Amino acid sequence: MAEAMIAGLVNHEVVPAESIVVSGPNTARVEELGDRHAIRSVTDNSEAVKDADVVVLAVKPQRLDHVIADLRGAVKPSALVVSIVAGATIEKIAVGLDHDAVVRSMPNTPAQIGEGITVWTAAEAVSDAQKETAREILTAFGDEVFLDEERFLDMATALSGTGPAYVFLFMEAMVDAGVHLGFSRRVAEVLVAKTIRGSVDFYSNPDDPLHLARLRNQVTSPGGTSAAALYYLEKAGFRTAISRAIWAAYERSRELGVDSSAHWPESLPESPQ
Ligand SMILES: NC(=O)c1ccc[n+]([C@@H]2O[C@H](COP(=O)([O-])OP(=O)(O)OC[C@H]3O[C@@H](n4cnc5c(N)ncnc54)[C@H](OP(=O)(O)O)[C@@H]3O)[C@@H](O)[C@H]2O)c1
Repeated sequence: MAEAMIAGLVNHEVVPAESIVVSGPNTARVEELGDRHAIRSVTDNSEAVKDADVVVLAVKPQRLDHVIADLRGAVKPSALVVSIVAGATIEKIAVGLDHDAVVRSMPNTPAQIGEGITVWTAAEAVSDAQKETAREILTAFGDEVFLDEERFLDMATALSGTGPAYVFLFMEAMVDAGVHLGFSRRVAEVLVAKTIRGSVDFYSNPDDPLHLARLRNQVTSPGGTSAAALYYLEKAGFRTAISRAIWAAYERSRELGVDSSAHWPESLPESPQ
C-alpha cells in the first residue's frame, strides 16, 4: 500500500519525488523502492520523519507499536500524521506519538492501479489546510470519502477495505463454475471479468441511476435462467453469508484497534449456521 501511495504521489506530481522519504526494516526493499521511484530511502524511522511535514504510517497493525516507539518525540509538532493502519484508532496513534494532528484512513488494494476508494477521518486538531493535504495525498491513488466520525472507519475496513477479497472470491467461484461447465479457464476468466466490470459500469451510469434490485429484476424473466440461479443463491443463504462475513471483518477491525496482537480465530464471532 505504501508503494501504491508513493507511485500515485510521484506520478500525479502531488509532491516532488525528492521530497519523499521511505523507511522500512529491510535495506534491500527500501533501496529498491528508492531506486524505482527516485525517492530517498532509509532504515531508521526517526530519521525518515525528522523534517517531514506529513508522516504516513503504512505498517501492519501488529508492527504499529514498534513504529510508534521509534517515532515518539521525532515527529515535528507542525506535521500531519496520516495512518492507513487497519483498526488503529486516532487516540492510540495520538497518545502513542504524543501528537494530536492525526488522520486515520482506510484505502483498498485497487489503489495499486489508481482505482482505490479511501474512507478517512481527522482528529479535531487537524487544520483545514492539513485536511486538504490529506485529501490530495489520498486522491493520488483513487477516490476518497471523508466522514467526520471515526466509528465509520471500522465499517469501511469491513466493506471497502476488505471488499476486494470478497469480490475476488466471488469471481473465482464464477470462473470455477465456468470451467465446470466446460469453458477453458482463460475464456471463463474473460467472461467473468467483463461481466463484473460491465455490471458495475451499468449500475454506475450517472444518466440513469437505478436501484440494484431493479437491475437484478431486469435480467430475471419469469421461469428463466436468472430466476433458477437466484433461487439457489437465496436458498444457500448467499446474502446472509455476505452480511455475516462483513460483520466479522468489522468486529475483527474493532478488536485490532483494542489489541493489535489479538489472535484469530479465538476472537472470531460465532460462525453462521
Ligand atoms: N493491503 C490492503 O488491502 C490494505 C487495505 C487497506 C489498509 N491496509 C493497511 O495498510 C497497512 C499496510 O498493509 P500492506 O498490505 O501494505 O502491508 P505490507 O505489504 O506488509 O507492508 C508493510 C510494510 O511495512 C514495513 N515494515 C515492517 N515493519 C516496519 C517497521 N518497524 N518500520 C517501518 N516499516 C516497517 C514492511 O517492511 P518488510 O516487508 O521489509 O517487513 C512492509 O514494507 C496495514 O496496516 C493494513 O491494515 C491494507
